[in-house]
Amino acid sequence: MFFHWLIALLIITTFIFGSIMVDIPGITPNKLRYYSWHKWIGISIFGLTCLRLLWRLTHTPPEFPLTLPVWQKKAASGLHVFLYLLIFGIPLSGYLFSLASGIPIVYLGIFPMPIIINPNPELKPLLKELHYVLNMALLISFGLHVLAALKHQFVDRDGIISRIVP
Ligand code: HEM
Repeated sequence: MFFHWLIALLIITTFIFGSIMVDIPGITPNKLRYYSWHKWIGISIFGLTCLRLLWRLTHTPPEFPLTLPVWQKKAASGLHVFLYLLIFGIPLSGYLFSLASGIPIVYLGIFPMPIIINPNPELKPLLKELHYVLNMALLISFGLHVLAALKHQFVDRDGIISRIVP
């Protein structure tokens, strides 16, 4: 629950920073600040998601309600796996895009991050596009995830939300 809500908050924050910063014309101090915050939050999300996955693999999650049809259990688990893949893939594509653009990343302005690829003008547009497309996939999946949660809470009233709300 702790990881779920913290990571959700960070994703929403960095998604908003990402969407605003790319539309700021020219190079301004604010734009550069937003790019840095965006990257630092994104890297934190990656690290926290690794910890979350470790926790998830070593702890059994609460059961789904017995009344839940099997197809809905499968759909929910499938969407959860897809969300995990996106939450790993998005920071990774952003990280590689920065490096391909020749911009090294210094986490929190203190810790230089590993340079795992060299500047690469050919790869740069592909990684930029990948970062964007994965973000759009996240937006859609997040919408489905929230709609499903709202349906269970207010239409089915099956208390499934207690799996993730204390
Ligand atoms: C879960 C984490 C992340 C989310 C949700 C996210 C989301 C976004 C969004 C919504 C945009 C705007 C895309 C557009 O409208 O073109 C963006 C752009 C960008 N992101 Fe991320 N991002 C994440 C992680 C990262 C990380 C870790 C880095 C680098 C270390 C990064 C680097 C960038 C860069 C450089 C851009 C600007 C692309 C451009 O110039 O068009 N992102 N991101």
